[in-house]
Amino acid sequence: VEVNLEEQFEAKVAKDIRIEPKDWMPDAYRKTLIRQISQHAHSEIVGMLPEGNWITRAPSLKRKAILLAKVQDEAGHGLYLYSAAETLGASRDQMTADLHSGKAKYSSIFNYPTLSWADIGAIGWLVDGAAIMNQVPLCRTSYGPYARAMVRVCKEESFHQRQGFEIMMTLCNGAPEQKKMAQEAFNRWWWPTLMMFGPKDDESPNTAQSMRWRIKRFTNDELRQRFVDMMVPQAEFLGLTVPDKDLKWNEAKNGYDYGEVDWNEFWNVVKGNGPCNKQRIQTRVKAYEEGAWVREAALAHAEKRAQRESA
Ligand code: ACO
Repeated sequence: VEVNLEEQFEAKVAKDIRIEPKDWMPDAYRKTLIRQISQHAHSEIVGMLPEGNWITRAPSLKRKAILLAKVQDEAGHGLYLYSAAETLGASRDQMTADLHSGKAKYSSIFNYPTLSWADIGAIGWLVDGAAIMNQVPLCRTSYGPYARAMVRVCKEESFHQRQGFEIMMTLCNGAPEQKKMAQEAFNRWWWPTLMMFGPKDDESPNTAQSMRWRIKRFTNDELRQRFVDMMVPQAEFLGLTVPDKDLKWNEAKNGYDYGEVDWNEFWNVVKGNGPCNKQRIQTRVKAYEEGAWVREAALAHAEKRAQRESA
């Protein structure tokens, strides 16, 4: 029977028929999805912190309102994604505990500090640009709830990216000091953004199987290349210099050649030793502890209501 189920599953994936929560699926497929979706959820939640850092210091009321909305969107994305992981049998409490103990991974990018207002522009432009590059194909991922969550997430990410680009454009068209801030933020965020796509294909243990299962639709290097090709003209438009001396147009491949990412830095951050890893986790743990009364009150309220309804 198992063989049959496996064949049916493979046939569905091959025909791009979505796998749904109650469908049979191989254990390893389920495990891979829980891993990727929960890491993705954690990234959205931790991703609120570098930008949240600037809400009180945004340079105008309008900028503050926009940034606040964007950070709230990220909370929403995290919650969708936790729900998608729950449809696979993962427990929310366990996922939260794994994040807080340092066991779970989340995107390396959110372990870097936001030193100036220009970093908020650079994050929107580059980090959300990379997120879109990675997530638009995930709208066609083989697992239904994940694919559907990505549709709305991507729409909101596009708005985030535009707001980042617009901050960069304002700075680049401003005073020389503002232009300098923009260039410095670009220099800080460019390489860590390229790391978001994950290790090179030949060093990525999960890519081949995830491509076969159509969880991933493109490899890490394919998406990184597309991202570079998309961003270079945008940087030129802003009048910014890409901080990569090896960057060069390659006519034959119809794309840019670019320098080597510092993979030591990448793995160091992934292992928990980036500039802000400890601070990020501490902040999440503190927020969770301080929110205990909300969870208790919500539970007490739900119990009271259930009692009233059954009485
Ligand atoms: N930061 C932290 N960990 C990473 C990163 C990164 N930038 N890139 C890869 N890793 C981890 C992987 O999670 C994997 O860890 P694990 O096997 O212990 O779980 C390991 O490094 C090896 O990488 P891959 O084999 O390439 O892993 P995978 O096939 O999962 O590809 C990728 C990684 C591209 C990030 C994929 O999981 C993905 O597309 N995830 C969904 C998008 C996402 O999570 N985005 C988060 C940032 S965007 C945002 O939140 C705004």
